[in-house]
Amino acid sequence: MAYQNILVETRGHVGLVTLHRPQALNALNETLIGELNEALAGFESNPQIGCTVITGSEKAFAAGADVKEMAGKSYIESYLGRFLDGWTRISETRKPVIAAVSGFCLGGGLELAMMCDFIIASDTARFALPEITLGIMPGAGGTQRLPRFIGKAKAMDLILTGRMMDATEAERCGLVARIVTPETLLDEALSAAAKVASYSQPIVMMAKETVNRAQETSLSEGARFERRLFLSMFATEDQKEGMKAFIEKRKPEFLNR
Ligand code: HXC
Repeated sequence: MAYQNILVETRGHVGLVTLHRPQALNALNETLIGELNEALAGFESNPQIGCTVITGSEKAFAAGADVKEMAGKSYIESYLGRFLDGWTRISETRKPVIAAVSGFCLGGGLELAMMCDFIIASDTARFALPEITLGIMPGAGGTQRLPRFIGKAKAMDLILTGRMMDATEAERCGLVARIVTPETLLDEALSAAAKVASYSQPIVMMAKETVNRAQETSLSEGARFERRLFLSMFATEDQKEGMKAFIEKRKPEFLNR
């Protein structure tokens, strides 16, 4: 499938999407978001794929939603045209998605990265929600996800000032899981994804769903949800195989059942 704004490949059991609008620092227009959804849906329904990596270029993961496309929009056109609906679908992906970020990760670019399950950043990465400088605020989950990652004080600082944060600060405050060099970024992300993809797919998907529950519910409800899914895992062949393999001192062969 040929896309205009993204490159899509598979590496073993890992799906790789490279945002590719170099002339616009990977600004996320509606066509790109549609293509990204299509690629993710393809990986989601492909039993060979266990995890996806989304990356950009060395200069930019994505410099935000496409300001030139948004600038002339009217309220009624946006409302009736369901502007931003496509963004929500990315966060509904059940298989894990890792963001590999170098360079600018701004506005909608950061919102996209935060919809992924974790972010691996190169030391050149720069993060911001600069929407305030354009007379708007974040609109693809940024006001809700950022405080959950880094706390209210720092989220307010970033959203109200629009300032940029470097990779070290982003890791220190919990936005970024790991920092690596730009040269090793893609390999690190692909190798993390390959590790995830080597485990039982349904178990990985349930683990992702359960961690995400922590963002949306109380501790006691979340723990109950965890208990339910944890117990349900004993109905899978993969739990039997995983534990048997440990006892027999061999590598497990998960069948995704
Ligand atoms: C459209 C963009 C863009 C964007 C960059 N470009 N960011 N086009 N939308 N978000 C384009 C520029 O217009 C320029 O095109 C080309 O990419 C190169 O950018 P330069 O500005 O020349 O590069 P540089 O001087 O290196 O500055 C890089 C930058 C700057 C600091 C990242 O481009 C910048 O501030 N971009 C906007 C960042 C931003 O405000 N993001 C938030 C968007 S709002 P030409 O044709 O001139 O060469 C948002 C809302 C999300 O994301 C909410 C809901 C989805």
